[in-house]
Order: sequence, then C-alpha cells, then structure tokens
Amino acid sequence: MENKSEARFFSSNFVYKQFFGHILEKDDGIDAEKLTQLTLNSLEKASLYRKWPGISNLLNELAKDLQRKDAKLEQTLFGCNFSNPLGLAAGFDKNGIAASIWDNFGFGFVELGTVTWHAQTGNAKPRLFRMSKEKAALNRMGFNNNGAEKMKETLEKQKIPPPGNRPSIIGLNLGKSKITSLEHAPDDYASSLEILGSLADYAVINVSSPNTPGLRQLQDSEQLRRLIKKLRRLPSCPPLLVKIAPDLDNREIDGLAQVAYQEGLAGIIAVNTSLNRLGLEERIILQTGRPLRIEKGGLSGKPLRPRAIEVIKRLRKNAGEDLPLIGVGGIDSPESAWERIVAGASLIQVYTGWIFQGPILVPNILEGLVSQLNRHGCNNISEVVGSELPWI
Ligand SMILES: Cc1cc2nc3c(=O)[nH]c(=O)nc-3n(C[C@H](O)[C@H](O)[C@H](O)COP(=O)(O)O)c2cc1C
Repeated sequence: MENKSEARFFSSNFVYKQFFGHILEKDDGIDAEKLTQLTLNSLEKASLYRKWPGISNLLNELAKDLQRKDAKLEQTLFGCNFSNPLGLAAGFDKNGIAASIWDNFGFGFVELGTVTWHAQTGNAKPRLFRMSKEKAALNRMGFNNNGAEKMKETLEKQKIPPPGNRPSIIGLNLGKSKITSLEHAPDDYASSLEILGSLADYAVINVSSPNTPGLRQLQDSEQLRRLIKKLRRLPSCPPLLVKIAPDLDNREIDGLAQVAYQEGLAGIIAVNTSLNRLGLEERIILQTGRPLRIEKGGLSGKPLRPRAIEVIKRLRKNAGEDLPLIGVGGIDSPESAWERIVAGASLIQVYTGWIFQGPILVPNILEGLVSQLNRHGCNNISEVVGSELPWI
C-alpha cells in the first residue's frame, strides 16, 4: 500500500487543521455541537449534489487523499463485504444525511443513527463538551434525531445503491423513543426497523446509551431476548447486532455474550460511552463550572480505551470464537486500532479520536494495520483478530 498521506496537492489534513485545529485545542470557544452541525450541513449538501461536477471533483480528491485499498484489509462478516475494518461510530450522522459519501472519507462502514421511531429534540443544550487536554468528550445528547420516517426519506433522496451493491457498508443504529415505556420498547424498535431495515446492511439494537432514562435496563438478558425475537420476526430485518455499555460488570457481560450466541446475533458492538468518570471525577467542565463527577452524560475518547479493551477481551473469551465483535472506544491511532483487533475485534469504529485527529486518522490507521500485517507475515486482517500479536 502506497503511503500517500503527505504526497498530494489536495490535503484534507491541511484543510481540517486550518478550519478546526485552533478550535479543538480549547474546551470553550465554538460550541462542540454547533461545530458538528455546521460540518454536517456542508456534508448534507455534498451528499445530495454529489454528481454535480464541482462537488464530484472535490469528493474524488477527498477519496484519493483518504481511501486506502488493500485486499489484506477486506473481510466478509455476517454476509457483508467490508473493504476495510474501520468504521465511523454511531452518533455523528444521526439522521443519515451524508450516508452516500462516507466511503470518500476512507471508512469501510458507517453506522447511522441512533434513530428512534418518534422524532425527538433530545436534552437541553449545551449537551456536548470537549475535553481537549484529555482527548475526551462528555455528551448527553439524548437521541436527538428526526425519527425513522424522516430518515427513510433522507436516505431515499440520496439515491444510495441497495445493500450488497454499495462501495461501503451502511449500518443502522436503533434506539427507543423517550416517550415509549420500557414495556413497549420492542414495538418502538420494530416500527423503526420495519421501514428502514431494507435500506441497511446491518442493524444495531442500542440498549447502552446512558442518556435515555431506563434504556440500559434492556441489557437484561430476558428483556433483550424479547426484543431480539420481536425484531427477527420482521421480514425486513438485516443482520442484527447489539451495542453494549462499558459499565456492565463481568457477570453481565458474560450474560449478554450468551444471549448473543444463543439468539444467533450477527455480532456485538462494545462499547458505548461511560457513566464512570475514569479518573476525571474532579475535572471541571468549563462551560458549566462543575466537576465531571456531578455532570450527567457519557464519557468517550482516550480515557475510555482501557475499559473498552477489557470488555472486548472478556467478550472474545465468552461469546464463542466465531461471533464478530466491533471494538469502539478511545481508538485514535494505528497502535490503538491494532491493539483492539488483536484483543478480539474483527471491526473497529472511531468517533472522538476522529474529531480530534481529523480525517487523516483513517488513512493513518489503515496504513498502520497493513504495515503490521506485512511485518507479521499475515495475508489478511482476519488472521490477527484475537491473536494478541504485538505492535512491532
Ligand atoms: C457526541 C456523541 C454522540 C453519540 N451518539 C451516539 C448514538 O446516538 N448512538 C450510539 O450508539 N452511540 C453514540 N455515541 C457513542 C459512540 O458511538 C461511541 O460508542 C463512543 O463515543 C466511544 O467511542 P469513541 O471513544 O471513539 O468516541 C456518541 C458519542 C458521542 C461523542
């Protein structure tokens, strides 16, 4: 694989550093959610008008800059052909507005959502906070999204090729609407999947967001079984995965691994954001003046990494060797990507690290993985999953 990171005239890294570099160095300044929204507004237009010559040229340049194709990175998992193991985690493109262009950023897959059956505005603002020094974030967004019907419209407007015929895989992350009781949660998830399932390569049952009251109770084995059974009965149900919290204890993780195995789930995504403060209890959030220990919301980014690795290792040991795991939480470099894969993850996702590092993180990780495979004399990334081979 050619190392192209520094060689091109068009450098997304240069553009990113110019626009976002100084902002991301500080906690305060431009509000983190506003910044995300501004970016998403441009991506929405780019996705809708991607065939227009000017935009098409720009997207092609972006792809040349960021994509890294290599057969060593390709895998087929739960019937989906992944061109590489690196995806964009759920929560960035909540409404699927840029679904058609994420492969231009080099990702092998993107997880849209979380989408809920009912449109909802989410929690009061401000609700997303950067912690620049720690390369972390705190969010209590609360599943703000336009709802499943609107997402369907949004995806159809972008004229994305159907599953099986796309340059990269599109997953769909489903959550429970806030107004729906836990008892009726299966109907709520099912309503979303019924209309969106045929557009997705895979779907994720999100029972791990800390920002919807009671949601994590659905991680209880019996509740989860009921939910899975309901969704799998739908004709439009694609391969189904579950996304879990980092705050479960070992017994709960083992219970979930067992449910996933027994119910024939396609995989497990570990982990969502954490309610634990991971050594940052006294860290003051500048915008509110309060320490993290009394702020609501889930922690993501670098501090989450050790726990995320522990959970992947535990799952790998107890979920059966063949159940695909997707590792997410604190991945921000080629080394941390490799570490997660050799711990047991077949695929990995980034969010907070990608925001801090910028789009260059994707080719950096992909080049790093290929170089490690070469050094270890391996032909495909699947050979090293769970191998505990060191970074050399
Ligand atoms: C602002 C923000 C919003 C998020 N929204 C969602 C979401 O809607 N659904 C979900 O499953 N995970 C959501 N996540 C969690 C991420 O998908 C990921 O699991 C978590 O951030 C850990 O990865 P990271 O350390 O690379 O950020 C969100 C994370 C952030 C920072």
